Amino acid sequence: MDVEEFRRRGHEVIDWIADYRARTARGELPVMSRAAPGDVRGALPATPPADPQSLDGLLDELTSLILPGCTHWQDPRFFAYFPSNSSLAAVLGDFLSTGLAQLGLNWQASPALTELEELATDWLRQMLGLSDNWSGVIQDTASTATLVALICARERTTDYAAARGGLQASERPLVVYVSSQSHSSVEKAALLAGFGRENLRTVAIDDAFGMSAQALRRAVETDRAAGHSPCAVVATVGSTATTAVDPLEQIAGVAGAHGLWLHVDAAMAGSAMILPECRRLWHGIEAADSLVLNPHKWLGASFDCSTYFVRDAQHLVRVMSTNPSYLRTAADARVRNFRDWGIPLGRRFRALKLWLLIREQGVSGLQRRLRRDLEHARWLAAQVDAAPGWERLAPVPFQTVCVRYAPAGLEGEALDTHTLAWVRHINESGRAFLTPAMLGDRWMVRVSFGVEATEHEHVAALWSQMRAAAERGG
Ligand SMILES: Cc1ncc(COP(=O)(O)O)c(C=O)c1O
Repeated sequence: MDVEEFRRRGHEVIDWIADYRARTARGELPVMSRAAPGDVRGALPATPPADPQSLDGLLDELTSLILPGCTHWQDPRFFAYFPSNSSLAAVLGDFLSTGLAQLGLNWQASPALTELEELATDWLRQMLGLSDNWSGVIQDTASTATLVALICARERTTDYAAARGGLQASERPLVVYVSSQSHSSVEKAALLAGFGRENLRTVAIDDAFGMSAQALRRAVETDRAAGHSPCAVVATVGSTATTAVDPLEQIAGVAGAHGLWLHVDAAMAGSAMILPECRRLWHGIEAADSLVLNPHKWLGASFDCSTYFVRDAQHLVRVMSTNPSYLRTAADARVRNFRDWGIPLGRRFRALKLWLLIREQGVSGLQRRLRRDLEHARWLAAQVDAAPGWERLAPVPFQTVCVRYAPAGLEGEALDTHTLAWVRHINESGRAFLTPAMLGDRWMVRVSFGVEATEHEHVAALWSQMRAAAERGG
């Protein structure tokens, strides 16, 4: 493809995307894909083309073959999982990133890539009300950031054992503390970082699903007495199931007293901290060692854009640094080389989308949208609280409401069957998309707000559908 063909096709592609976004905003497509397993693959040639093929007809193929296999995350009636907004300004940032085709192996390989990442993460830091003790870097996902955090914790507790015998040389098992509400990526990170399942403690939670700091303290003391080496605690601000909040200040007190690394997973709900009125929910954050927050969720920077903040960047660099001769430059002493701030060497120009998002919306625009989403959640919670037979199963600190329709006489497995049936009915209607999830040993339905296009009319229509589906019997 030469540049002129690229120009022509690029305009067509942008038009196609703009039409797609307009259609999803109007709710013209079924929110949840109706594709059956194998449909998309089966519609495409199983073998690669032997010879070059014209791209004429590509957009028609996208419309007829690919689109039916897409679930529409930007549709205002998407209330599933969590919001993964891809604001149009951020889409342009991603296009620019790909078009500029920068690869940030070190500062010299793309000074703009490095410095825009420093700037955009620092803008975000200020927006979140974090002190300037924190420095940020963009990772692909929260899963990677949490893995990096636990590796840094391991190295701090063992006085940099990786440079010697690694975990094989430790006499005392290192222990990581999580709660039953921690995201599955936390357990995965602990296992990948070599702690071992036996050394992962699940600390008890309170009635609001937050980690109990007293139970954490007891668990740490028990481990110490048994000759183990407490290493890290992962606290969550906005857990996946119910958006529960672990009490950071109290957890930080235990972490400080016992030398634990405190990593805070605020992947989804951390965006709310651009609202000063929400910051009480992460009171104590300044005592944490590391923090992950995904602008690729609620904030609007298209996936992937996960920001990882640390208070001791020197420690991070010491753990993660590599220094092959071909990457050394005369500027090294004066610049950041982000390859030393995480696992991959290569780095995309992801800062462009975050920078464009913040520029285009401004802090006030982002704040307005998030406040609207919090209001949607509060409105639905109030309807659920007032409706006979409906239960709200958890506090609503952010944008997710956990509900169940459980009229008298419907319980146990029959209740589960009913819950799963009415949510399936809604999802298959194509008119909304919700996620059922287990809370304790029972199914419930999570209603997660935050899609950029969702307005009150969509929330009101959803509530009518929920009542109709659940109260009529699924
Ligand atoms: C609280 C929390 N932590 C971590 C993750 C994982 O995020 P990522 O897909 O960026 O690894 C999620 C996403 O679902 C989440 O809600």
